[in-house]
Amino acid sequence: MFGRIDHVGVAVEDLDEAVALYSERLRMPVEHRETVEEQGVEVVLLGVGEGHVELLRPLGADTAVGRFLERRGPGLHHVAYGTDDIESALECVRAAGLRLIDECPRAGIRNSRVAFLHPTSTGGVLTELVEAAH
Ligand code: CO
Repeated sequence: MFGRIDHVGVAVEDLDEAVALYSERLRMPVEHRETVEEQGVEVVLLGVGEGHVELLRPLGADTAVGRFLERRGPGLHHVAYGTDDIESALECVRAAGLRLIDECPRAGIRNSRVAFLHPTSTGGVLTELVEAAH
């Protein structure tokens, strides 16, 4: 069902500081930067081989990532698995009895399609499925 780990999502308070850490000190190239208004985040994607680190800065306190930061502070936010067929992957996890946050795929960055599984059914790990733009 999953071909690879697509990215690891990291919630940050100060995006410039986090970009400096990952790009300058950890030497990961910045590949993409995008604001996703409907998800309330500004995202910076850095390359790690074929995978990525996805830095997430909330656009406000009353957003999913804003509430996460309020509760847990900066740090690891989610793991995203790549799939070539997000509808089939969603059908599989639904059939396996896992709780979904997104019943249908929604728009992600770089014209990808994404869907989240609820962390209560994945051992506390917020889990994302990603189908890259073709
Ligand atoms: Co993500």
